[in-house]
Amino acid sequence: MKNIAVLTSGGDSPGMNAAIRSIVRTAYQKNTKVQGIEYGYKGLIENNFIKLSPYNVENIIHIGGTLLKSARSKEFYKKEGRKIAYNNLIKNNIDGLIILGGDGSLTGASVFTDEYNFPVIGIPCTIDNDIYGSDYSIGFATARETIVSAIDKIRDTAFSHDRIFIIEVMGRNSGNLALEAGISGGAEMILIPEINLDIDTVINNISNINKKKKSIIIIYSEGCNYGTAYEFAKTIENKINNSNVRYSILGHIQRGGIPVPSDRILGSILGYKAIEILLKGESKKMVGYKNMDYNIISINDSINNNKSIDKRLYKIAEIISKQ
Ligand code: F6P
Repeated sequence: MKNIAVLTSGGDSPGMNAAIRSIVRTAYQKNTKVQGIEYGYKGLIENNFIKLSPYNVENIIHIGGTLLKSARSKEFYKKEGRKIAYNNLIKNNIDGLIILGGDGSLTGASVFTDEYNFPVIGIPCTIDNDIYGSDYSIGFATARETIVSAIDKIRDTAFSHDRIFIIEVMGRNSGNLALEAGISGGAEMILIPEINLDIDTVINNISNINKKKKSIIIIYSEGCNYGTAYEFAKTIENKINNSNVRYSILGHIQRGGIPVPSDRILGSILGYKAIEILLKGESKKMVGYKNMDYNIISINDSINNNKSIDKRLYKIAEIISKQ
């Protein structure tokens, strides 16, 4: 394999650049050239190829987002779009492709390789940490750090004004980000979609905490079923007398920023391994990291299984948030 390509797809995540850098430099050592495709699958269809060298990936390891830009492509969902994508890979003499992205991007990769039998390796990149087959996905640790720093700041106001604060965090349908950020930030309550308590129980729990403690931090995962953060705040105000409620939606500040070292390390090792297995002839595999070791599984295994939350961690959070 002499020419390979790399693209970043879906939501950007801090640490993607570390992975791109590692891919390019590892490939270079093995006499393989790397082209970048800008704007993910969209760029693949639009033939947006750029040459990458070990030198133009210098000074990017500490930068969030993705040097290659990203997009969510509707065209790639269509057969015709994928045909154009395949033809562009052939036209550019590409004989292997590395995809950096979340489950949507991996699903696209799976359909594409089924149709064209083109060698593809996936690397899990998303702040949601919802990809089966890897303990962590690239970007999660940085987002967790950002949320914890926001909790620390909001706690000052919650304490000073005896307020109940709802902090809405990302994660799509997964509570992994909320859970780990919540436990690290010492939240009084963590609400996640996987533990779908009825609203009366939730209110009752808040009210019980509120009897002993006036300032309360509630980490609210965006996939929860209690309405928007605003609606949930209103529900609390209506049901708990004299409650002093505020909410804060952290939004996209969670996705950007300087990648923390563990995301840079994860990007570096998964990028290295992706090249190694691609050059050995592997295809349709995702390279993850599990129990301090590589975990190479089929992309189909990854997309067809749900990554659950760590139930023990949830239990611990429940116990230690009570007092
Ligand atoms: O998948 C990453 C993620 O940041 C989710 O946590 C969030 O729901 C979604 O992407 C937001 O997507 P967009 O940036 O397209 O609004």
